[in-house]
Amino acid sequence: MTSNLMQAVRIHQYGGPEELKLEQLPVPVPKPEEVLIRVHAVGVLPVDWAYRQGLMKEHVPLQLPFISGSAVAGVVADVGSRVSKFRKGQAVFGRASQGACAEFVTTTVDTLASLPPNLSFREAATISGGATTAWMALFAHGHLQPGQRVLVHAAAGGVGSYAVQLAKWKGAEVIGTCSGDHIDYVKSLGADTVIDYRTTRFEDRVHDVDLVLDGVGSDTLERSWSIVKRGGTLLSLVDVPSTERAQQLGITARFSNELAPDTVFQQIGQLIADGQIKAPVGREFPLHEIRQAHELCQTGHGRGRIVLRVAD
Ligand SMILES: NC(=O)c1ccc[n+]([C@@H]2O[C@H](COP(=O)([O-])OP(=O)(O)OC[C@H]3O[C@@H](n4cnc5c(N)ncnc54)[C@H](OP(=O)(O)O)[C@@H]3O)[C@@H](O)[C@H]2O)c1
Repeated sequence: MTSNLMQAVRIHQYGGPEELKLEQLPVPVPKPEEVLIRVHAVGVLPVDWAYRQGLMKEHVPLQLPFISGSAVAGVVADVGSRVSKFRKGQAVFGRASQGACAEFVTTTVDTLASLPPNLSFREAATISGGATTAWMALFAHGHLQPGQRVLVHAAAGGVGSYAVQLAKWKGAEVIGTCSGDHIDYVKSLGADTVIDYRTTRFEDRVHDVDLVLDGVGSDTLERSWSIVKRGGTLLSLVDVPSTERAQQLGITARFSNELAPDTVFQQIGQLIADGQIKAPVGREFPLHEIRQAHELCQTGHGRGRIVLRVAD
């Protein structure tokens, strides 16, 4: 480290993308149980703009000024006195609780994994809040088994792109929904059937699925109840489904939002490094163009995961 200052993007108040300010700040010092990461790439998640906009302030009030960004990949620049899992100079990726839209971030190590040699930082930055979310939903909550049928809503997005691939990797039959612009893309991920939600009502095409993974919510969630077979599972990443209604229908329904442990990060990183699944790197922006990245994410119609490049 040549200077103890770094570039970071902070917000000082809730609001639109114009609240994202590139500033010079002191490089943070890791606590005994933390590492300091020299950030190379950060994934831009929908929750990042939701936090910025103040949409979650009732439940998760931010301590302002706030540096957003959690889906991080970079190199350990320093380690706290109680950390033995990583050493200085080691390439890592995973989830920081906050603060990754900066040249350096400190974080605890429970949701970090070491970067496999043939995985790039930009690929690794798509894993947290994308692959890990899909993994916990499909496998920890959905208990997906080979041969089962799964429908993935928002199949072209940062979570859906991984959900389609992970479900295929598991040996499931996969149906994806997306707009017409992304049909070829979702097919290329391995989906057996792709439904354009703008022209076709999915419930007219699909019935008796074992598992629905809903990354859209509201009306899409509402219309998904009827396509889950008895004994099946309806998972939403967006809304909380009624457990009473689930009981009446003889299915399991839940909001899926559990964070993945480091072992899951490691497994997913290895699957990508081994070429079994692909990291859906979408549009890339340099850190100073974070406003454009947030604006694009906020449209809700992206392909794959938007990535901010912080260092080469
Ligand atoms: N609970 C959790 O732990 C958790 C974790 C991660 C994400 N999430 C939430 O899950 C949702 C998806 O996240 P993401 O990161 O995948 O978002 P994203 O990367 O922004 O992707 C959004 C996708 O939604 C698709 N879409 C929009 N309307 C649709 C519709 N009616 N039917 C089907 N697809 C539709 C878009 O496809 P087209 O462009 O083709 O329209 C786009 O690809 C977000 O609301 C996010 O906040 C929750």
